[in-house]
Amino acid sequence: MEQVESEGNNKKRVQGGKTTTELVLSTYMEGNEFVFPKILQLHVPLDAVVADVTYGKGIFWKNVPKEAYKLLATDIMTGVDCRSLPYTDESIDCEVLDPPYAEGFFRRSKTQSGALTGSHDAFWKRYGNHKRPVVSEGPKYYDVVLDLYFKAGQEAKRVLRKGGVFIVKCQDQVSANKQRLLHVDLINYYEPLGFYTKDLFVVVRSNKPCVSRLVTQVHARKNHSYFLVFVKKSGQSHSEVEKGRSGKEVAEAK
Ligand SMILES: C[S@@+](CC[C@H](N)C(=O)[O-])C[C@H]1O[C@@H](n2cnc3c(N)ncnc32)[C@H](O)[C@@H]1O
Repeated sequence: MEQVESEGNNKKRVQGGKTTTELVLSTYMEGNEFVFPKILQLHVPLDAVVADVTYGKGIFWKNVPKEAYKLLATDIMTGVDCRSLPYTDESIDCEVLDPPYAEGFFRRSKTQSGALTGSHDAFWKRYGNHKRPVVSEGPKYYDVVLDLYFKAGQEAKRVLRKGGVFIVKCQDQVSANKQRLLHVDLINYYEPLGFYTKDLFVVVRSNKPCVSRLVTQVHARKNHSYFLVFVKKSGQSHSEVEKGRSGKEVAEAK
């Protein structure tokens, strides 16, 4: 903070604050359970109502004191789809979204190439309580992942209050031999939806990734993921947008 000191008639400006290395950083080589509390500390005030809509086993919350936030924990496994939340418009201070970003998670059968084998199997055991969602129609592969993030983002826009914080975990991936930068696709979609991209954290894996049956390496193997922090802009509310849209539809119909 800047302060003003007087010397006779002369006023001189001096910088306040303190010198410190105790800062929240943008990159960590630690588990999500160590990084997530730092993100809350920086971006979410204590006592806030936080909806973790893909709670899974609650690993993110392992090091967050229970009394610090009003946590609403839901997951598809407990019957709540992040695309259709049981909250009223603009009632939530912060939403946390961490859906499965490995597209193999959504493959339609276990025999399909890349489906729930190897690391995806481990992923299911860790996060999915050994069950998996049935995906029988709609988009495929990476586009399924994207579709879920987009629809969950629309729902987040509805339930978050203006200025509310939307914390999104994601990982870029190579799908069908093509580089798919999920964090870029999400920013490009969420910004016009009404979010400002306030922060970005990179989480680096500490162990060495291993691939079985590698013939030729074409892309760098991903060993990092992201936490993106969005803030809902104080433009039109969801219901105002909906009202405007239906008003326009009525006018067009006349
Ligand atoms: C990567 S894990 C989340 C891990 C969690 N952040 C933790 O700390 O344990 C992904 C979770 O998303 C859930 N999920 C998948 N599709 C969903 C949906 N449509 N709505 C809500 N949860 C979903 C899965 O059941 C799984 O628990």
